[in-house]
Amino acid sequence: MRVLSGIQPTGNLHLGNYLGAIRNWVRMQDEMDADSQCFFFLADMHSITVHEEPAARIRHVRDMAAALVAAGIDPNRSVLFNQARVPAHAELCWLLNGTARIGWLNRMTQFKDKAGKNRESASVGLYVYPVLMAADVLLYQATHVPVGEDQKQHLELTRDLATKFNADFGVELFTLPDPIIPKESARIMSLRDGTAKMSKSDPSDMSRINLTDDDDAIMQKVKKAKTDPEPLPESAEGLAGRPEANNLIGIYATLAGTTADAVCAEFAGKGFGAFKPALGELLVETLRPIRMRFMDLRSDDTALDAILEKGAAKASAAAEPTLRAAYRAMGLMR
Ligand code: AMP
Ligand code: TRP
Repeated sequence: MRVLSGIQPTGNLHLGNYLGAIRNWVRMQDEMDADSQCFFFLADMHSITVHEEPAARIRHVRDMAAALVAAGIDPNRSVLFNQARVPAHAELCWLLNGTARIGWLNRMTQFKDKAGKNRESASVGLYVYPVLMAADVLLYQATHVPVGEDQKQHLELTRDLATKFNADFGVELFTLPDPIIPKESARIMSLRDGTAKMSKSDPSDMSRINLTDDDDAIMQKVKKAKTDPEPLPESAEGLAGRPEANNLIGIYATLAGTTADAVCAEFAGKGFGAFKPALGELLVETLRPIRMRFMDLRSDDTALDAILEKGAAKASAAAEPTLRAAYRAMGLMR
């Protein structure tokens, strides 16, 4: 098994990023046997499809790298790097641009969503984004790619590209990857509005729990979280039409590694005055060690950059044979 996944380096990390994305990677890493390997990277080359100040970009790469390590990604067991430091990604992307069809890219729903009505002024990078993603995956002969539902179409394109390249050049070069999409991936909602996703761009800081929030801040935010006046129901069915209650109970269940039904059974008939302190406590205990490691890692840029540098060297070495074989298959190298 060769597992590979990428994440766009965003700043202001919060509970949604942790439970919805980062934690899944840590789980995969921890479940690997000795013959398997994980490659995890920060998709900073993908992030250029949206304009960002250079200083912010650097900060966000370091934030996400530190968050991944703090949450349990072990750079000695998994290959952890940022895409920009491994030029093979950009090189293979260009080679695959000869194989990718405009018609395929025109069908990509993420491009349509992100470009919106003003497609003419979207960057070419945003359009070609899925080809770079295919290069990311195919370079390492990845067999399993953990992603969210929204990335499934990009992985189908990756498989199409691999198949066409292999057929066009008469080689058996690229491995067809399988997506791994968590059945019920945690979707964490705003603490102020149970129908909106917890998001770094919400103007209210009370809507989210940041990875950098201290114990008191976490407790305060949970206490002030929006709820309804009803007590907790006997089972998860009773959460229908109660988005805020559903979210808080969902967070508790995810953190405790249990189900919403079990949490309801435990707190049935009690009000949020009783439930919130228990939830706050659980959040504080889960996030404190991660926050401590995060702050520690973030206080030493040199050490953090060295981790990424080492990862990039390992990734480059792993990518090299496939990249060379692609050049050769195309008659670009002897
Ligand atoms: P973003 O910062 O929105 O680009 O998200 C980075 C990663 O965190 C992506 O994999 C998202 O799916 C995940 N993520 C962001 N917000 C949430 C949320 N509220 N619930 C679950 N996952 C989230
Ligand atoms: N496009 C992915 C996302 O936005 C991130 C990504 C880039 C990725 N390259 C990848 C994921 C390769 C898996 C494999 O979530």
